[in-house]
Amino acid sequence: MVQNERSNFGSKLGVVLASAGSAVGLGNIWRFPFETGNHGGAAFILIYLACVLVLGIPIMMAEFYIGRRARANTAGAYRKLAPGTPWCWVGRMGVLAGFLILSYYSVVAGWPLEYLVEAATGGFAGKEADQFIDSFNAFASQPLRPVIWLLLFLIATHLVIVRGVEKGIERSAKVMMPVLFILLVVLAVCAVSLPGASAGIEFLLKPDFSKVDGSVLLGAMGQAFFSLSLGLGCLCTYASYFRSDTSLPRTAFNVAAIDTLVAILAGFIIFPAAFAVGIQPDAGPSLLFITLPNVFQQAFGSTPLLAIALSLMFYVLLAVAALTSTISMHEVVTAYLHEEFKMSRRKAAVWVTLGCTILGICCSLSLGVGSSYTLCGMTLFDIFDFVTAKIMLPLGGFLIALFIGWYVDRRQVEEEISNHGTLKVHIVRLLLFVLRYVAPVAIGIIFINELGLIHL
Ligand code: PHE
Repeated sequence: MVQNERSNFGSKLGVVLASAGSAVGLGNIWRFPFETGNHGGAAFILIYLACVLVLGIPIMMAEFYIGRRARANTAGAYRKLAPGTPWCWVGRMGVLAGFLILSYYSVVAGWPLEYLVEAATGGFAGKEADQFIDSFNAFASQPLRPVIWLLLFLIATHLVIVRGVEKGIERSAKVMMPVLFILLVVLAVCAVSLPGASAGIEFLLKPDFSKVDGSVLLGAMGQAFFSLSLGLGCLCTYASYFRSDTSLPRTAFNVAAIDTLVAILAGFIIFPAAFAVGIQPDAGPSLLFITLPNVFQQAFGSTPLLAIALSLMFYVLLAVAALTSTISMHEVVTAYLHEEFKMSRRKAAVWVTLGCTILGICCSLSLGVGSSYTLCGMTLFDIFDFVTAKIMLPLGGFLIALFIGWYVDRRQVEEEISNHGTLKVHIVRLLLFVLRYVAPVAIGIIFINELGLIHL
């Protein structure tokens, strides 16, 4: 289906799966469990759910509105909706954020490929917990191997992008998302049936509100934005390919539901298994890469084939989830170059892949040979993470809420959200209230807190 010479997603299922593919990624499977572990478990999850519902879904609808109304890349969309104003800088900042996140995210996304090879060649067999830590550190600080995986990952992303919106993104999401989901359910069932897993299940289900403080609240809100891919125009770009009969509120609810379900399933894999073998839930970012092979090894060591099969499934799943997210970041930048600078899609994609390869290699090296080059105590990898996740995304979300809440005409929002009156939508008033007041205040607090200007 072609509209204004731009391709569209071909089916409603494709729309939901491609958007959910963007949202579901390392943020759910790697970041959500370690944030939950750091913040005490069930209470954090409840607050996270509230954030997804109250802030995430309205901002997602705002991004959908901008993308589908303008039918343009994220920077072009602001130019169309608010001509002659500085709002297009929100879109440009999003494009830059997408480019920077793609560069360092691809480094982490390459790591499961190394673990895949390790698992396949029986490299986990007979190792103790300490050895897993040592081998992870040795791998991540090597100059060559992580770079090879990074390159492979970027090439895979590139190949999907050049096949175009419907053939590439939609078709791959239609296959990858259900596979991912099935793999998660299988692994969660295995994890919860381990002896001693009940402590992990309790950790996930029994809230301890005495541990809730400002940082838990802010951590949960930050995680919601990162995990739902909000604040940089990713979902805005995808919405520009939505069909005109796609229901924006329903799509936002579905995407948020799938994203949340995957995060919680990831929790049900990692915590029961971790508790079963006596691993601390607050192990931090290493929780996934250092602990999990150890967990598989200890829990299934007596049946090596099962250990290998389960680890393989998990790392395939992680790589697939990361790929559907890197595709969406790549698309933000490719669509921008293609439409704003009149480059062919193929040429635009080559520039994005090349640029990300160079920055990604620098980020990867900064974890090893380049670790002595720091700014404010942060390596290049840390700087990219800090500048994007902690500054650009909250700022983007804040400005998107202001744009729809205060700049755009309310009737236009009503018109687009209701598909020109063909859908009965009762939530526009509530949506605008949240975007005008609740979201800017809440994101403002996260932003200021993360900059360290206040401490809640
Ligand atoms: N939401 C993705 C994840 O959970 C990460 C992401 C952030 C993707 C921003 C696109 C844009 O891994």
